[in-house]
Amino acid sequence: MDKLLIQGSASLVGEIPVSGAKNSALPIIASSLLAEGPMVIGNLPHLQDVTTMIELLGTMGVEVVMGERMSMEIHSSTIKDLVAPYSLVKTMRASILVLGPMIARHGKAKVSLPGGCAIGSRPVDLHLKGLEAMGARINVEDGYIYAESDGRLKGAHIFMDTVTVTGTENLLMAATLADGETLIENAAREPEVVDLAECLIAMGAKIEGHGTSAIRIKGVPTLKGCHYDVMPDRIETGTYLVAAALSRGKVTLKGARADIMDAVIAKLEEAGATISIQKDSITLDMEGRRPKAVNVTTSPYPGFPTDMQAQFVVLNSLAEGSSTVVETVFENRFMHVNELVRMGANIRLEGNTAIITGVEQLKAAPVMATDLRASASLVIAGLKAEGETLVDRIYHIDRGYECIEEKLQLLGAKIKRVAS
Ligand code: EPZ
Repeated sequence: MDKLLIQGSASLVGEIPVSGAKNSALPIIASSLLAEGPMVIGNLPHLQDVTTMIELLGTMGVEVVMGERMSMEIHSSTIKDLVAPYSLVKTMRASILVLGPMIARHGKAKVSLPGGCAIGSRPVDLHLKGLEAMGARINVEDGYIYAESDGRLKGAHIFMDTVTVTGTENLLMAATLADGETLIENAAREPEVVDLAECLIAMGAKIEGHGTSAIRIKGVPTLKGCHYDVMPDRIETGTYLVAAALSRGKVTLKGARADIMDAVIAKLEEAGATISIQKDSITLDMEGRRPKAVNVTTSPYPGFPTDMQAQFVVLNSLAEGSSTVVETVFENRFMHVNELVRMGANIRLEGNTAIITGVEQLKAAPVMATDLRASASLVIAGLKAEGETLVDRIYHIDRGYECIEEKLQLLGAKIKRVAS
């Protein structure tokens, strides 16, 4: 299993490109199952999760042709097998995103239950409840979701008990081919939901209100293919901005979109960073200053993203002063804390709150990654740790960060991948 070895105390300086958003690419790839004709998706990040989603479509008989620079052409008319097997779904929860399109287009679907993961139980009850409201017959047995509908789904008025990103995305996709109108209330407002909706509209869907908590969809008979480029990844952008801040450097993220990062940018400025926004890039300059501690509470968009929580725990661990980080979205998303404490961080957990007192520098230690964002945070912690930090189980990182060591090396970090 590969590991990442990071030599500490490098100030990051320079400019790197931002990749396409993983959490936008995954639903958009799944939406190709709705299209009558071929679909071309561009600006895809080269990530394990994207490969897994393509592999999943491949096992169903969908033809995928790789284009240049990580674009791909998907022909879903060749689909043969309406089954998403446990062997693939267990490696990537987002596989559940094929359920809505399959039942909407083919009236039938068998999808393995994704099961929990390190950060929480992550049920999919709201996905299923919404599809049943649209007329699907759902039953769950031997670890699989069996869904069927007699003819097309029917438009429905759906209220989501909890804001769920992929739940909203599954129902949004299903509603595009339902008879009549669907209203999804308490919908997720994440930019990745908006990106998916814009792609569906390019395929001929009739959608309004995406980006608000009430999305209205008028079903259409069919959807055509389209060419759609995935938006830039706001979480990758935020991760490198935090790395620049804690290393007291100056970094520019090319292709980044500041308009979808208000909560993160506000917190970085509160921490003492100078942020300048150009047409298609963001520059953070710490001017050599140590960051100041900032209090953070995660919540659904436009609130502070849970996917940036671990990164800010690291930033606060090295900041001047004390702070609290409250995680309200997932029940177990502090696994990075124990690893950071082993690196000398001063953090105390009380329920869903981390109480942090900043230290001047961390100490290198062998640490272990547990989930995607926690593992990226351990890597950036290694940038400000005395000695060599070895991060194990970095397959988590490869799921969501394209070429992380190359991008950090471009910024002057001393980091390399070592096979074990
Ligand atoms: C998406 O996961 C993202 N993944 C996650 O990013 C992100 O952390 C999360 O949204 C929250 O922003 C993708 O988009 C592929 P949820 P998702 O459904 O949709 C509860 C990363 O690091 N819930 O919004 O699975 C659930 O338990 C990943 O890139 C139900 O109770 O998250 C959680 O507490 C990690 N019933 C809350 O809602 C349901 O049916 C939010 O989960 C669905 C969800």
